[in-house]
Amino acid sequence: MSQAKSVLCVGCTVIDFVTINASYPKEDTDRRCLDGFWQRGGNASNVSTVLRVLGCKVDFFGMLSNSDAFKVLLEDLRKREIGTKNCPLTDRDPPFSSVILAQDSGTRTIIHCNKDYPQSTYEDFSKIDLSEYGWVHFEARNTPHTLKMMQSIREHNKRTGQRVIISLDLETRYEQNQELCQPCDFVVFSKELAGQLGWKTPRQTCEELAASISESGPKPVFICPWGSAGAGALDDNGNYHEMGSYKQEKVVDTLGAGDSFMAGFIYATLEGQRSVADAVDFANRVASHKITGFGYDHIAQLSLDLN
Ligand code: FRU
Repeated sequence: MSQAKSVLCVGCTVIDFVTINASYPKEDTDRRCLDGFWQRGGNASNVSTVLRVLGCKVDFFGMLSNSDAFKVLLEDLRKREIGTKNCPLTDRDPPFSSVILAQDSGTRTIIHCNKDYPQSTYEDFSKIDLSEYGWVHFEARNTPHTLKMMQSIREHNKRTGQRVIISLDLETRYEQNQELCQPCDFVVFSKELAGQLGWKTPRQTCEELAASISESGPKPVFICPWGSAGAGALDDNGNYHEMGSYKQEKVVDTLGAGDSFMAGFIYATLEGQRSVADAVDFANRVASHKITGFGYDHIAQLSLDLN
């Protein structure tokens, strides 16, 4: 079991209803899928799962619910020993996603239904004893509250001399979430979002992000996974690294590959004490192994020599 302190993953947990199809369905047809399953999903929720599978101590922080539909999510968190202390509660039904896996193309298409599900606030977060954690990971959402949560970790670090590491997964709404980058140690930025901004390579993406930080002082490390081309990372000394991907013969399930990359990076950095380049390489390994099986449990086959 892990030697390092726990990781806290802040964000959302949802139900993913997944169907497995030979090909992507034609619009306005009625057909059967080959198979299907449901699982607990959501970015921070998936990061928690993969971290736990890799052997980390993990807590999840986000809005839980008393609703009957949420019971399956609570049961899965409990079974996997992912802590949920300090989480606020609502009576609302959980958000869910309909996910279509297409076997011929290897794609995963996600249709997410959020239903205005309430989000945890800074006030909820402020009740947490941060000294229990070595790392706090955030989804980019609920910007004003998330920013205050991050700043409170920075203040905690200053006051106590502890170093609780902060990471951010930035996948949507760059304009709105850009201010979340500055207080972070690590920012993982999606290829899809880079494409929307017209950034053509992982190197350009990391450099544009670093240039956007106007405050003096240390900049976050920017990491940009680039699908089958691997991933780029600009470290805090301004050195750029690019690590190739691990090719797989058979693509089975790409849902949550990005979340698995994130968890692999956190695990290799916190538990494995790896350099940025080596941690990104391990994250590539985790993401590419993830897509060879359904769900996340098979990731347990990967390990790092932690001595
Ligand atoms: C995958 C995922 C799914 C969830 C969706 C939310 O990265 O976290 O589990 O349904 O994204 O956007």
